[in-house]
Amino acid sequence: MKDIITLSMESSCDETAVAILKNGREILANIVSTQIELHKKFGGVVPEVASRKHIENIDAVFQEAIDTANIELEDIDHISVTYGPGLVGALLVGLSYAKALAFSLNKPLVGVNHMQGHICANYIEHKDLKPPFITLVVSGGHTHLVEVKDYNSYEILGRTRDDASGEAFDKIARAMNLGYPGGPIIDKLAKLGNKKAIDFPRAYIDDSYDFSFSGLKSAVLNYLNGQKMKNKEIVVEDVAASFQEAVVEVLATKAIKAALEKNYKTIALSGGVAANSALREKISQMGKKHDIEIKYPALSLCTDNAAMIGCAGYYNFINCKRDDMSLNAVPNLKI
Ligand code: KG4
Ligand code: ZN
Repeated sequence: MKDIITLSMESSCDETAVAILKNGREILANIVSTQIELHKKFGGVVPEVASRKHIENIDAVFQEAIDTANIELEDIDHISVTYGPGLVGALLVGLSYAKALAFSLNKPLVGVNHMQGHICANYIEHKDLKPPFITLVVSGGHTHLVEVKDYNSYEILGRTRDDASGEAFDKIARAMNLGYPGGPIIDKLAKLGNKKAIDFPRAYIDDSYDFSFSGLKSAVLNYLNGQKMKNKEIVVEDVAASFQEAVVEVLATKAIKAALEKNYKTIALSGGVAANSALREKISQMGKKHDIEIKYPALSLCTDNAAMIGCAGYYNFINCKRDDMSLNAVPNLKI
């Protein structure tokens, strides 16, 4: 059978990314240009700045992907692109570029949901992984517990009712002036701290699969303010470790509960927070107890990239999904 070559583009937030895949799961090129340094001084992503930077970067990232994969443009079978969820201006840059490519090369255009992309990063990492399984999508914008029924069939079991888990990491890091993005910094600091030092609240929200992190965020902010008012020392390593433990305990417990109740033997983590070492460790320990296999992508495939979008686009493509030039950015696209 002829190989299927996917060219994919991702620009939903602060990474400009282009990838080229063979048969959906083999990476020929995966180029990511991150804007983290640019947004650091603002303490978070500034949408207008992100859009402008995508415009400046996208040509070079595209060219580097083509050169790395060493392919001719005619070899491409379809163009996949993120069309939501994300920042509208940022999404429009990748989407317009992909539409122009598809039109000029006369290749099919396939729109991809960014969240579906995060889940599919696991297919690239684990060549034998097949649906069905449970996935926990934890990123800067989303916290979803999802039943993956097939490559293109998903059922949301639960979601955050307020902040996303990554957002909580970023906000707590900001409150302690640790820098941006907060997740990796807190992860590192927490290794030096005591996770039992401060008893922060865990929101289990009865028996549901939903999450809530705003109460925890307020508790950490109150703790920090209280220590300052009392002129007491703040041990950032202990705050980081105790906060992180409160987040990962709830995430891991609910994912395991979903797998047990729905009778699944595999949980795949996805999204930027899936890079968290404490989450990986805790859920792996819990999984072992219940004979549930825990999978997660390599760190570079957890955070935003275009390879994951290409993999999702490949499964859309072979399931005959096609889009046309009317495809628009959908900032609040649901899975
Ligand atoms: O998936 P992603 O790159 O972008 C979105 O789609 O949002 O996720 C970015 C988020 C940020 O909130 C970042 O702080 C978090 O993932 N993150 C982490 C870690 N690495 C990235 N959170 C916790 N621990 C980490 N090691
Ligand atoms: Zn993402």
